[in-house]
Amino acid sequence: MPPDPARRAFDVRVRPTEARIDRTALAHNLAQVRRCAPRSRVLAVVKADAYGHGAVLCAREFVAHGADWLGVALVEEGLQLRRAGLTAPILVLGGQYTDYALLIANRITPIIYRADQFDGYAAAARSAGLIAEAHLKIDTGMGRIGVQPGDLGALLDHARGRPEVRFTGLCSHFANADLRDPAATVRALELFATARAQLVDARQPLGLCHLANSAAVLDLPASHFDLVRPGLMLYGAVPAPRFSGLADLRPALSWATGISHLKSVPVGTPISYGHKWVARRPSVIATLPVGYADGYRRQLTNIGNVLVGGRRCAIAGTVCMDMMMADVTDVPGVQLGDEAILLGAQGGEHLDVGELADRCGTIAYEIFCDISARVPRVAL
Ligand SMILES: Cc1ncc(COP(=O)(O)O)c(C=O)c1O
Repeated sequence: MPPDPARRAFDVRVRPTEARIDRTALAHNLAQVRRCAPRSRVLAVVKADAYGHGAVLCAREFVAHGADWLGVALVEEGLQLRRAGLTAPILVLGGQYTDYALLIANRITPIIYRADQFDGYAAAARSAGLIAEAHLKIDTGMGRIGVQPGDLGALLDHARGRPEVRFTGLCSHFANADLRDPAATVRALELFATARAQLVDARQPLGLCHLANSAAVLDLPASHFDLVRPGLMLYGAVPAPRFSGLADLRPALSWATGISHLKSVPVGTPISYGHKWVARRPSVIATLPVGYADGYRRQLTNIGNVLVGGRRCAIAGTVCMDMMMADVTDVPGVQLGDEAILLGAQGGEHLDVGELADRCGTIAYEIFCDISARVPRVAL
């Protein structure tokens, strides 16, 4: 498809706001996954534009460093990778399909957990005159998608004697692997073991068994099986603070901009919509060309920090759609155009995604995914 000429305008860079992706950090984090799960293959989860890091860029890096599989949520995401020339096996984790022939034509492997999915895929395989592979998904407590353990037997019966679809994997997903209470995770492991046994009884080859997300890669070796499916840790973050230190992870993304306007203001000067910030001292205020349309949360009004000159500076006033202001009074020699870091390191200071997530009452995943398409991803 030819590029949309209107979007080509975004090839021109005027604004300094960008998300820098450190490829060496991606490769390093993948090596850490291998260190944690040395006997398992790795499926690198690159759904949701690689958690906002750029799917094609990250997928290329992971594959170049030995990732065996790529995991996407949507068929569309798998097609994006294929169109970019990636040839590694791709698994669709989201389980929604309309055109099964599209999967087969693009060698994209679906997860299957319902008879109608099996039938649609089998029909497409028959038309293509080949045997198509799928991974069987079982719901072990997430309550989202997957065959219920009690219905697995019926699904296996449905598939019996229909060689056009071969199950080459069995998978599930933890709901609570990041929580301290292990009860639900232990239960999920038990249900998974039962499903494995049921497949063996049904003389169904097990194929690749996989269950472990980042939390389980880091902390639950019993769940590693043949393949692990990390996402977040590949990008250098942990699912919860208690996982820090279990692997040497390096943040792969830093979010940067440059000061687009700078002014000195007297005591009492109000800043931004609603005048929610008022100078309590003679202040130097920097305007930054980034706002909530770029995914920087408006909630960070008056409570967020940015780094300028290697120092933490408070956000001054309401975060606007395209701009926000920071109090840079304590940054010696601050100048127009100086770099400001919203996420990442500068000098000896660091703004961690976990810190931002905490301040917003959310999780690192959401902070990453919120960084909008308007922010160019630049590979370092
Ligand atoms: C099915 C599935 N597997 C693996 C992952 C990776 O999880 P994490 O990013 O916590 O490693 C996800 C992400 O949510 C997922 O949905």
